[in-house]
Amino acid sequence: MLIHETIAGLRAARAGAGTVALVPTMGNLHEGHIALMTQARAHADQVIATIFVNRLQFRPGEDFEKYPRTFEADCEKMAAAGVEHVFAPGEAEMYPQPQTYHVDPPSDQAGVLDGEFRPGHFRGVATVVMKLFQIAQADVALFGKKDYQQLMVIRNLVREFNLPLEIVPGETVRAADGLALSSRNGYLSASERAEAPRLYQLLSEIAAEIRQGARNYAELEAKAMNILGLNGWVPDYVAVRKTLDLQSPSAHDSKLVVLAAARLGSTRLIDNLEV
Ligand code: PAJ
Repeated sequence: MLIHETIAGLRAARAGAGTVALVPTMGNLHEGHIALMTQARAHADQVIATIFVNRLQFRPGEDFEKYPRTFEADCEKMAAAGVEHVFAPGEAEMYPQPQTYHVDPPSDQAGVLDGEFRPGHFRGVATVVMKLFQIAQADVALFGKKDYQQLMVIRNLVREFNLPLEIVPGETVRAADGLALSSRNGYLSASERAEAPRLYQLLSEIAAEIRQGARNYAELEAKAMNILGLNGWVPDYVAVRKTLDLQSPSAHDSKLVVLAAARLGSTRLIDNLEV
């Protein structure tokens, strides 16, 4: 496994790599990330994983500074997963001067749900992902459904800019108790960790009710928000949306996803479940 800290170095390696599958991450890798890298193997001759904590997608006061950086352990996991190339640029390599051009996703996609509570977040994501696509020149890129709205934004970015690569989604990898794996789970205290699976349980209950014919989405959302509040969470949203565009469904829409974001102590968790 080769580690590249410069764009020039990665490009030189990419030139001889045949077809390439890209897995962008911010590091502190867990089984969810590794599953994407393993899945990537099947799509190309070589896998490039990237590790870069992207300042642009964090708001002031969010966890950019304390975001866990565990490069050595990450490298062991990527080597074991058979990754050929790691792109791990420093901040000065990705942003040698302040980024003044941005990819600005439309507000109906990037200003709702997580975008409402993290203004500018998807602009930061779309901008760095565009840069990574240009740098790696991959044929395929893999993104997890764990970040469902991010996946939608990136799919639309690729389509609207005619980028010559395919986006492949990966299923959400969960702990045995249902909690979606996340680098941020490491912030949870023992008692918060014990409470955390409730988020997925509530999503599962809503999905089950919808499968059984419930269409009172607002009521289901409000009930789950209330239960979260009663159990010490501060929920941002619980929302039943259409899978295609994450807009609110009408009674006859059938392809749905339930999404939620809530804070437990100082940790903000997100999750979702397709109905
Ligand atoms: P990060 O949170 O490190 O996630 C990297 C990739 O792993 C994303 O595609 C994410 O959806 C996926 N992932 C995270 N947890 C997962 C889980 N439990 N199961 C399956 N996949 C999971 O998402 C980002 O980084 C950044 O926004 C990035 C795209 C790298 C741009 O900076």
